[in-house]
Order: sequence, then structure tokens, then C-alpha cells
Amino acid sequence: MAPSTRTLFALLLSAAVPALAQQTNLPPITDGVFAVSASIELNTTRDALWNALTDFPKYPEWNPFVRSAVMTNKLGIPLPADQQHPIENERLIFRVQIPALPLPVDASTPDNILHTQFSLENVTHVQPELGRLAWKYLSPEFLLDSERWTAVSELENGKVLYESREVYNGVAAGLLQDLYGNGLQESFDAQAQALKLLLEGSL
Ligand SMILES: *[C@@H]1O[C@H](CO)[C@@H](O)[C@H](O)[C@H]1NC(C)=O
Ligand SMILES: *[C@@H]1O[C@H](CO)[C@@H](O)[C@H](O)[C@H]1NC(C)=O
Repeated sequence: MAPSTRTLFALLLSAAVPALAQQTNLPPITDGVFAVSASIELNTTRDALWNALTDFPKYPEWNPFVRSAVMTNKLGIPLPADQQHPIENERLIFRVQIPALPLPVDASTPDNILHTQFSLENVTHVQPELGRLAWKYLSPEFLLDSERWTAVSELENGKVLYESREVYNGVAAGLLQDLYGNGLQESFDAQAQALKLLLEGSL
């Protein structure tokens, strides 16, 4: 790269970064061994984005990362259909793809068996008025402490901001990062892209 091009590139980057960092509706960041995150501006309404994120039975129709999300009680028994949305202190069983499947997906897109993982989560925060949701991997915290926050907010330009972030801590976090760090980041990005496809109709 010629020095002038590089300078221009650096200028563009430094101009872009504060713009991205300007508005966030995620809670303040906590330190971790590693973190993955994604955000995207969507030309949609806050309600439409919130509904897409909380309608678990519809996840298989659009989500290339979380292929199935089932709310259960503490014994692992699925809750009735009218409770298949995030409910604090109930459990969530995910079947995920790490890395995510290529877009687009629908309910009949087969899993890549080699990339399939299951996780049991506790729904920790459901805050519709704040536009925030969180669930946390159920594990002894010393082993793996990881809470995924999702936030929706309205931007001044009339668009809606989707943000998601998960910070990983605990003695197993380093191993998880080695095995899945890149795949998880790809999966977070893919879910953001999939929301754009779902709510705007194209990428
Ligand atoms: C946003 O969506 C509306 C219709 O839903 C459309 O009229 C408008 O052009 C879109 N704006 C952008 C910036 O894509
Ligand atoms: C699950 O989350 C709720 C709500 O934040 C919390 O009160 C509860 O202690 C959590 N349960 C477990 C087993 O972590």
C-alpha cells in the first residue's frame, strides 16, 4: 500500500470507529478472557426487531446460528406454546451452529452435524422497556461465566440498532476461545446479517 493510501485508510478508520461506538444500549462492559459481539443498523421498527428476537419458535426460519431455542422449566420440560418467549429465571435450550450456516436459511435447512452444539441457558434479564435481553450459560461460574446480552434501540437517523455481546470468563474460557472463538464471532455476525435479511428483505 502506498503511504498516502494507508494514511487515507487510517483516517477513514478513525472516522468510522467513533461513529460506531457512539450509541450503545448494551449495559456497561465487564472484563473477560474474551468477548464476541455484533451490531447492525436496520431499517425497521423497534417492535419488529424485538418481536423477531423474542419469538423463539420462529428462530429456525431465519437464524443461521441458533437453529432451535426452546423455553423449558427448571426440569427441562418445554413450556407451552404461548410461553415460548424469554421469561426470566426459566431455562432455554439452544441448538446452535458454530460457525453459523451460510445464509439464507429456513426451517428445513439441515444442520452441519460437525458444527452442532447444545447449550442450556438461564434467562437472566427480560427488559422490554429498556430494549434488553440476556441469558447466561448454566455452568459453575468458576468454570465458565458467560452472559449474552442483546439490545435494541432507536437511532436518530430513524433506523433501529441491533447489538449483541457475550463476555466469557472462568477457567474454561481460554480453551473455549481456542476452539470456538472465531466460530462464535462468525456466528454473531451471521445472526446480525440474518436479521437484516429477515427485516429488510435483502442484505
Ligand atoms: C426503509 O424502508 C422503507 C419502507 O419500509 C423504505 O421506503 C425506505 O426507502 C427504506 N430506507 C432505506 C434507507 O433503506
Ligand atoms: C437465573 O436468572 C434469574 C434472574 O436473573 C436469577 O434470579 C437466578 O438466580 C438464576 N438462576 C440460576 C440457576 O443461575
